[in-house]
Amino acid sequence: MYLLKALSFTTLAVLFSLIFIGGYVSASGVGLTCPDWPLCPQGLVPHEDFIIEYIHRSVAATTGILVIATMAFTLKSKDAPRGMKIASIIAAGTVIGQITLGAIVIVERLHAILVTAHLGLGLVLFSMVLMTLLYALKIDNQRIKTTAMSSNLSASKDN
Ligand code: HEM
Repeated sequence: MYLLKALSFTTLAVLFSLIFIGGYVSASGVGLTCPDWPLCPQGLVPHEDFIIEYIHRSVAATTGILVIATMAFTLKSKDAPRGMKIASIIAAGTVIGQITLGAIVIVERLHAILVTAHLGLGLVLFSMVLMTLLYALKIDNQRIKTTAMSSNLSASKDN
């Protein structure tokens, strides 16, 4: 469960920073500095002309990998409750939808409704990743309590 806790915390932290970067992309008006999809004009090579958008896409790709890895480990875990599995599946579906929507935002030249939907879907994704983390923390707490109780029990039997 430690792995799941660490993974879902890392995913949430990276996603939180991505939402900040996205806000900066939008507010500073650099959303179309990378007009191609999926790569920027110089492929994988970053350039100062489109560095913010390049970072947004790279962190989005990292987030996608982390969210899908969290779902894979959650589904594999015997301790994960049903709610945690459902939250991680919704998060994985949402991250794929969000990355696809990001591409459409570029193709449609920052259409206002699409950018707003991109922000909204980002919040749904954040909620699902947060829920997965809260479940992971809850399971860990329960495990600590159970271990403490059983060691107290065996200590009182010995006395
Ligand atoms: C997990 C993936 C992603 C998340 C959570 C995310 C989140 C965000 C957020 C919160 C914003 C700010 C929206 C606003 O202030 O209204 C934003 C802006 C933006 N995102 Fe993403 N994003 C993701 C992936 C992508 C991808 C893959 C692209 C593709 C190129 C992309 C393209 C953009 C663009 C162009 C903007 C600026 C829109 C504008 O200029 O108004 N995003 N993103």
